Amino acid sequence: MTVEYAQRHFPALCRPRLVESHKGSFGTLGVIGGAPGMTGAALLAARAALVQGAGKVKVGFVQDLPFAVDTLHPELMLMRADQLLRSSDMTVCVAGMGMGLDEKSLGLLFQVFRATIDIPLVLDADGLTLLAQGQIGAGRRNRALVLTPHPQEAARLLDCDVGEVQGARARAAVAISRKYDAWTVLKGHKTVICSPQGDTQTNCTGNPGLASGGTGDVLAGMLGACLAQGIEAAQAVPGAVWLHGAAADLLVDEGVGPIGLTASEVSLAARRVRNSL
Ligand code: APR
Ligand code: MG
Repeated sequence: MTVEYAQRHFPALCRPRLVESHKGSFGTLGVIGGAPGMTGAALLAARAALVQGAGKVKVGFVQDLPFAVDTLHPELMLMRADQLLRSSDMTVCVAGMGMGLDEKSLGLLFQVFRATIDIPLVLDADGLTLLAQGQIGAGRRNRALVLTPHPQEAARLLDCDVGEVQGARARAAVAISRKYDAWTVLKGHKTVICSPQGDTQTNCTGNPGLASGGTGDVLAGMLGACLAQGIEAAQAVPGAVWLHGAAADLLVDEGVGPIGLTASEVSLAARRVRNSL
C-alpha cells in the first residue's frame, strides 16, 4: 500500500474536502438488503458507507424494522425497503446484501432496477444470484451499474462452473461486463476489475485476512460511498477495491489479523487509509 500509488491512480479519491462543502455534497446512499436472519449484511454495508464519507445513509430492510435505531451508528436512517424506494432523494443505491432469494426479493430487485435508472447502482450477493436467474434484464441505464461477484456468484452470472471462472478470471470478468453492460469486480485473491467496455485491471492490495464473513458487504458499502461522493466509476470502482485491500494490509501490519480480522475493523481501517491519502 503506498499513498503515491493511490494519488497516481485514483486522484479523485485523494482530493481534500472543500471548505464550503456540506452533507449534500456527498450524496444520499440507499442500502437495500437485510432480510430476516441477514440483518447484519445490510448494516455492515451501510456502516461502511457512512465511515467512508457518504453524506447521508439510509437502510431499507427486506423485513419489518428489526430495531428502531442502530445503536452503534444512530446516524443511519432505518426503514423498510419499499419505503426507501419511494423516497426520491437517493443519489446512489447499493443492493443485494442478505436480500434473500425468494419471489418477494426478486420483485423487490425488479423495483430497485426501475427506481435507479438515473443513479449509480451497486449490486452484490443475493442481488447477483437473483440477477443470474435471468428474469430481470439490466436494461438501459443512465449511470453506472457495478456488479461485485465472488467466484461462485460470477459462475452463476455466466451459467458456468466456478472452476472455469477461476481458471481465467480476467476472461470471466470481461464476459460479465459484456453480458450486463456493467463494471465487474470479480473478488478474491487478486480481484479483477473490468469496465463496461471490457478493459481489465488487477488489484494489488488485500490479504487472506479478508476471507471472513461480511468483508464483501463492507466493500459494497465503500463502493457506494465513493460513487455518492461524486467520484466517477472509472476511479471509484478500482479505488474502493484498492482501499478495502489496503485497509486489511494496514491491519495485518499492525498485528490485527490476518487471523481473526473482522469486516467491521476493515471498514474502520479504510477510513484511516482514506484520510491519509
Ligand atoms: N485475498 C485477498 N482478498 C480476499 C481474499 C484473499 N485470500 N479472500 C477474500 N478476499 C476479499 C474479496 O476480494 C472480497 O472483497 O474479501 C471480500 C469477500 O467478499 P465475499 O466473498 O462477498 O464475502 P462475504 O462478504 O463474507 O459474503 C458472504 O455473501 O455472496 C454472499 O453467499 C455469500 O452469504 C455469503 C456472503
Ligand atoms: Mg458477499
